[in-house]
Amino acid sequence: MPQYFGKLQKTEQPWSTIGSVESINKTDRTIHFNCGETSLNLSILAPNLIRVRMSPTGEFKSRSQSITVPDEEWEITPFEVRETDEKIEIETAQITISVNRDRASVECFDKSGKPFASDCDPSMGWRAGATAGWKRIEAEEHFYGFGQRTGFLDKLSEVKTHWTIDALDYNSLSDEMYQAIPFYIALSPDRAYGIFFNTTFWSRFDIGAEQPGVLRMETRGPELDYYIIYGPEPAQILATYTQLTGRMPLPPKWALGYHQCRWSYDSEDVVRELAKQFRDRAIPCDVIHLDIDYMNGYRIFTWSPKRFPDPAKLLADLKAAGFKVVTIVDPGVKYEPEGDYEVFDRGVENDYFVRTAEGRLFHGYVWPEKAVFPDFLRPEVREWWGELHKNLTDMGVAGIWNDMNEPSIAERPFGDGHQHVWFPLDAPQGPESEGATHAETHNLYGLMMAKACSEGLQKVRSGERSFVLTRSGFAGIQRYSSVWMGDNLSQWEYLEMSLPMLCNMGLSGVAFVGCDIGGFAENATAELFARWMQVGMLYPLMRGHSAINTAQHEPWVFGDRTEKICREYMNLRYQLLPYIYTLFWEAATTGTPILRPLLYQFPRDRATYHLYDQVLLGPSLMAAPVYRPGVEHRAVYLPEGSWYDWWTGECYQGPTHILADAPLERMPLYVRGGGIIAIAPVKQFVSEEPLESLKMRIWPGSGEWTLYEDDGHSFEHEQGVWATTNYKVYLEEEKIIVEIAAREGQFSISEREVIVEVVGVGEQRFTDDGTVRRLTFG
Ligand code: GLC
Repeated sequence: MPQYFGKLQKTEQPWSTIGSVESINKTDRTIHFNCGETSLNLSILAPNLIRVRMSPTGEFKSRSQSITVPDEEWEITPFEVRETDEKIEIETAQITISVNRDRASVECFDKSGKPFASDCDPSMGWRAGATAGWKRIEAEEHFYGFGQRTGFLDKLSEVKTHWTIDALDYNSLSDEMYQAIPFYIALSPDRAYGIFFNTTFWSRFDIGAEQPGVLRMETRGPELDYYIIYGPEPAQILATYTQLTGRMPLPPKWALGYHQCRWSYDSEDVVRELAKQFRDRAIPCDVIHLDIDYMNGYRIFTWSPKRFPDPAKLLADLKAAGFKVVTIVDPGVKYEPEGDYEVFDRGVENDYFVRTAEGRLFHGYVWPEKAVFPDFLRPEVREWWGELHKNLTDMGVAGIWNDMNEPSIAERPFGDGHQHVWFPLDAPQGPESEGATHAETHNLYGLMMAKACSEGLQKVRSGERSFVLTRSGFAGIQRYSSVWMGDNLSQWEYLEMSLPMLCNMGLSGVAFVGCDIGGFAENATAELFARWMQVGMLYPLMRGHSAINTAQHEPWVFGDRTEKICREYMNLRYQLLPYIYTLFWEAATTGTPILRPLLYQFPRDRATYHLYDQVLLGPSLMAAPVYRPGVEHRAVYLPEGSWYDWWTGECYQGPTHILADAPLERMPLYVRGGGIIAIAPVKQFVSEEPLESLKMRIWPGSGEWTLYEDDGHSFEHEQGVWATTNYKVYLEEEKIIVEIAAREGQFSISEREVIVEVVGVGEQRFTDDGTVRRLTFG
C-alpha cells in the first residue's frame, strides 16, 4: 500500500513514556491516575472487563467514532482499591489489577495470583503520530482471533495490521485484509484473556515478532485505549467481548440454506434455468445471488432493462419455487452529471458524497468507471442510502450483498496495473461537528455501509428479517451483517486455509461467516469441488461463488460422481438445520461461535492449540476434512472423552489419534459421547412452517442440549414467540435415560412425531405435545 505508507511512515523517533503516578482519584467506575502531563484511566466495567486509557496530553477526547458500549451504560461493578507505597491495587470479584507507582505500569492477576495481560518496561508510550502499549507474552501463551486472517490458527510471532484493503490475491502470508478487527484471545493451559484495542485508526499488533516475549500494540491515533477481558476460558471472553461490541441478530432461517452465486448469472433466462436445474436435480438451494451485471451499467439501485426486463415477475416466480434473491450493492456511485441518474443527482444535491479537505468532490474508479462515494459515517447519508434499497426490495429482493467497501478504489479505470487508492487521509468524514478524517474512519467505512444497509432493510422490509453480507468491516460488524472472506482461489491451499480463517473470525465475535465454495478465481477440478462442498457444508454461510471468465462451478457441472457427493453433503446440511439454527440462536444470545476450533471447547488441551484442520460445528459435531488431492486417509485427533464415527457408529476413547478412512465420498465426522443433534427431513429449501417431524440423534454418554425454534422469518421471537426444548442424556445402572423437559416459550408447534435414536442402541417414537418425557434405552 505505497500511498499510505509513503505518506505516514514515521522516522523512528524514540518513544516518550508515561511517568510515575503522582496522585489518583476515584469515581464509581474509574480510577484516574495523574502521571504529570499524562493521564491514565482504569475503568472497571464488569468483574472481568477493564478499560485502560492513556492520553499523552492528559486530556481524553470524546470518541464519537467508537463502536463499543459507552462506559456509563455498564452496571456499576463493585471493586476495592488498596494503596501501598509501591502500587495501587484494584480488586474485582474475578481479577486484581495492580498499577506500579514508579512506572504507571499495569499488571493483572487471576485469583490464584497468576499474572496475565501485564505491561512490560516501558508500559505505554508515544511519538509523533503514534501511541503504543507493550504487554508481556507469558510462557505457553498462544494467540487467536485478530479478525480475518490467512495462514493457520495461532498468530504468535507474527505481525497483524488493522487497515481494511481490497485483499485481492491474498495468500497465507498476507497481513492486511478486507476486515480489520483489533481483538485477540491469548490462551494458555491455565487461563485465557482477550484484548480489544479500541482504535479505528491504522493499528498493529506485533505479537513477539520484533522482540520475543513482548507484544506491542500501536495505533496512529492520539491515545492508547484498550479493554482487558478475563476468561478464564474463551467462551466467557467472547460473551463479554460481544457484550462490548454487539451480537448478531438472528438471521432469517433461509439464509442458513445453500446460496448459489456467480459473477454473473447475467440475465433472467440464465437465472430461471439455474433455478430449474437445482429443482430438477433435487439439489437443495435457498438463495440465488445476482452480481454486478443485474444493474443498468453498474448504476447502484437500478436494473438492466435488457437483461432483467421484469425483475418483479422473475423474483415472484423464484419465490414460488422456494428461492430468495440477494443482489449486490457496491458503494461507488456512477459519476453522471449529464445523465438522469437519481442516486448521483440526489447525492450531489444533498452533499452526501465524500469530499477532499479542500472541498472538492472526491472521485475514483470502480465498475462504472468514474464514481463518487457516500460518506456512510454521517447518519443522514446512511438513512438516505438505507431507503434506496426499496428500489430492490420492492421487486422482491430479500437480502443485500455489500462489496468493494474497504473501500476498493482505483486511481484510473480498471485494467492492467491500476493502483488502489483510498480517500485522502485528511478528507473529512462523518458529522462536521466531530472533525473526524479518513485516517480515523477508514476502517469503519464497510461497517457503516453495512449498518446503513441493515437498518434500511429493517425499514423497507418491515417485519421481515433480511440477510446482509459484507466484504469489509470492523469490530462489531456482527451486529449488521454476515461476512465472506473475499476473493479466494480454486486451489487446495485455499480450501485448507478456509477453516482456520473462519475459526479466527468466530473467535473475533463474527459467527456468521463463509468462504466462496469451490474457490472464486481459477477453475476447480471435480475432486477439489467435491471436497470443497463437504467443507462448505460446515460454513455458517454456505455460498458457492465463482468469478467471471472461469469455468462454471455449479454442483452438477463436474459430472455424476461429484454431483452425487454434492447432493449428499448439501442434504446433510439441510438435515442438520434444526441443530445449526440453534447454534445461530446461541451466537445471537451469547456470542458463541458457530464454527469452532477444537481449542475453543478444549482450552486446557495443548494438543488442540495448533490443530487447524479439524473443526467443531457447535458443541458436538467434529469434522476432519481432506484438503489434498488423491488423499483417502487422514490422521484425526480425538480429545478426551468418547467419540463416535458419524458414519459407522464406531466408538473411540480420547485422547488419541486415529487414522480415518476418507475416500472421496467420505468426510470424516465424529460426535462426542452424550452429543445430541436434531435432524430434520431433507428439504429442497427451508420451510417456514414448524418442523412436522424431527429426529433426535443421541450418542451414548452424558450430555445436554437445548433445541431452539421460532417462525424463522419475523421479529416475533423478540417478543417471546420462540420455543426451546431441553434434552438430557445420562447413564443409570446400565440403562441410558433420555429426559425431555417441557417445551418453553410462546411459539406454538402442533403435535408432531419425534423419533429419539440412541445411536447403536435403539429408537423410540412418540407424539410430541411439548410435555415432559423420560425414555429408557437398553
Ligand atoms: C469482487 C468481489 C466478488 C465479486 C466481484 C464482482 O471481486 O469480491 O465476490 O464477484 O467483485 O462484483
